[in-house]
Amino acid sequence: MHVDPIDAVSALVRAAVVSALGTDCDADPQVRRSDRADLQADLAMRLARKVKRAPRAIADAIVAALPVNDVIDRIEVANPGFLNIWLRAEWLSAAAAVANASERLAVETTTAPERVVIDYSHPNVAKEMHVGHLRSTVIGDALARVLAWRGHTILRQNHIGDWGTPFGMLIEHVIDLGAAHTGIAELAKLYKSAREKFDSDPAFANRSRARVVLLQAGDPQTLQDWRALVDLSTRYFETIYAELGVTLQRADIAGESFYNDQLAPLAHELEASGYARISDGALCAFPAGFQNREGAPLALMLRKSDGGFGYAITDLAAIRYRLAQLRATRILYVVGAPQTQHLAMVVTAARELGWLAPPARAEHVAFGSVLGKDGRMLMSRAGEAVRLVDMISEAVTRAEIVARAKAGEAGEPIDEAALKDIAHAVGVGAIKYADLSSDRVKDYIFDLDRMVSFDGNTAGYCQYAHARARSVLRKAIELPDVPIAIDEPVEHELVLHILGLGAVVRDVERTLEPHRLVSYCYTLASAFTAFYDACPILKAEPAVRGSRLQLTRLAARTLACALGLLGIPVPERM
Ligand code: ARG
Repeated sequence: MHVDPIDAVSALVRAAVVSALGTDCDADPQVRRSDRADLQADLAMRLARKVKRAPRAIADAIVAALPVNDVIDRIEVANPGFLNIWLRAEWLSAAAAVANASERLAVETTTAPERVVIDYSHPNVAKEMHVGHLRSTVIGDALARVLAWRGHTILRQNHIGDWGTPFGMLIEHVIDLGAAHTGIAELAKLYKSAREKFDSDPAFANRSRARVVLLQAGDPQTLQDWRALVDLSTRYFETIYAELGVTLQRADIAGESFYNDQLAPLAHELEASGYARISDGALCAFPAGFQNREGAPLALMLRKSDGGFGYAITDLAAIRYRLAQLRATRILYVVGAPQTQHLAMVVTAARELGWLAPPARAEHVAFGSVLGKDGRMLMSRAGEAVRLVDMISEAVTRAEIVARAKAGEAGEPIDEAALKDIAHAVGVGAIKYADLSSDRVKDYIFDLDRMVSFDGNTAGYCQYAHARARSVLRKAIELPDVPIAIDEPVEHELVLHILGLGAVVRDVERTLEPHRLVSYCYTLASAFTAFYDACPILKAEPAVRGSRLQLTRLAARTLACALGLLGIPVPERM
């Protein structure tokens, strides 16, 4: 059976359209959750234009033609032609039993598995990770988890900035400092101090330039120094990934340097084929449809006039590698909105070159900026981009204050170690939740006090609802193996939400918008809380106690699954 209410009802409505109108009218029945009923279907308005009848008449005809079924309890037609649909408690109960018995809960695996490259996080070597990398890392990781759960093969690609002219000054600076003075702690300042020295000390600048030449020529000692620097940064990134609970591994790194050897041959190839040509001494490609302000074709610069290669040709090599070698059918670039044009040019070029052809596709998963409470770009007091590590530790500190107050209310002795774990889960969860909860292309305001709260649309609220459910289950000790009966409206509502996980996961898979799943978590947590407040569970009479415990278990597992797909930790106790 379809445990997904939207699927189940869609199948019925589709059949009714065929028998009522004699056409399927490519009818997506447009069934969705509703605040007027359990579900609503809006297709009559669209069909009206197609078959040239009034929406109301079409809606009535569909209702009249509905096959006999055990899913729908009743339907009302509302003007101009909405179908308001209520489901049978018995059906919900049976579907809940199926979900409860399955590892996958209410989520079906895809019937069309793909190979999905997700290009995300991509920090830069010898630089701090800042809020921009936070967004890419958090959004990319959530998408990786969601798509993997649907059964796609995920090829994580961490396109770190590990090559280019700055490495001359960085290596030279490290040599000056001596290896003993360049550990992870110094890493943060390395880029800045190297840059300052470069700008103020001409001799150092000259040495740096000579070092770049050595690096590009493959001088063994220079390469070794470079590798040490990359390695140190990589270990630093790994500490942050571990702290945030991000699934990226060392093996997922394929940074800019990875494509190094491919750049010169690629430039030759594109020049020889005539796809690229020399313009002002530089080798450029001109993908169709891009113009500068004067209306002249916009160049994708592949090789600078000094012979150097840059960001653009590296991305061309990368997209080719991902399609030809990794055999990606879907490529996601989780990169900030400012790179929209660059990525569009790269993707267009890949298409023009015949590397990227349907059904394979590349999508830019763009995101906006993180703003401070003053509505401007989030900056540290020193006027720099806020370091990711500082954001995390600040969030955890605040979460600890909130968690301690909450534990104090309960009047029980505080277990310090447990409190630290909770604070970490809530702090990290708060950062991820806030980042994922708004429409990603929009900017959002980083307001820690609101984010770490246990009330309202927050990670803490959802985590707390889950912990409550787990606490009930611990106290119950035994879980009777009985079906979930649906008697109360809050039970009906809760089961309906639980069974809706599959539809939301598919929405995220299609739109690449994790905020849909965040909203789902919040409404599910609210539905569980409403159930918990309205229905006695442990104290219920034996006949309903078992059913409510099973419902509590299913709700807890579903909430844990949904939060887990977002990468948000779910503590057992809070
Ligand atoms: N490292 C770059 C940055 O920090 C982002 C790389 C994005 N990925 C890509 N394939 N261009 O801005």
